[in-house]
Amino acid sequence: MAILDIINVPDPLLKTISKPVDAVTDELRKLMDDMLQTMYIAPGIGLAAIQVGVAKRVIVVDVAEIPENPEEEPIREPKYLVNPEVVWESLEHNVFNEGCLSVPDHYADVERPISVKIRYLDYDGQKREERMEGLLATVVQHEIDHLNGIVFIDYLSKLKRSMIVKKVQKADKEKEDA
Ligand code: NI
Repeated sequence: MAILDIINVPDPLLKTISKPVDAVTDELRKLMDDMLQTMYIAPGIGLAAIQVGVAKRVIVVDVAEIPENPEEEPIREPKYLVNPEVVWESLEHNVFNEGCLSVPDHYADVERPISVKIRYLDYDGQKREERMEGLLATVVQHEIDHLNGIVFIDYLSKLKRSMIVKKVQKADKEKEDA
């Protein structure tokens, strides 16, 4: 497995609308394995292919709890979603303080439906439909947004968004120069 480079805002690639996948092939599984590994190392709980520069409708998520004792092996519950679509969403919304691996160290409240039904192809290319709630529902909606060129800071005011983007750019530049 390989660790991939994650791109940060304001990289214009993050505004790309990703293309549907025709078939779940070994090559695509390799991408999903690498994405998952990259997400665990980051560490994060969700990653869309466009965040590693691949404009395909593929996301990986894992919202399993991390053990309090750092010596304990984390329980992994990875999910791979190919061509994910929201086919139903609850009228009830809630607010989560969201973050994003492409917007490192910045968090903001975003309101989304509390529960959704998602249609997707799994790791084996099987068609699935699953109802998701809570954190999983939030993360999957956040990742599907990435496939449509939307980053969570797009929901904030222009002023707030540009402040965050400037800070991320500055931090990235400092890392480059170091
Ligand atoms: Ni994100």
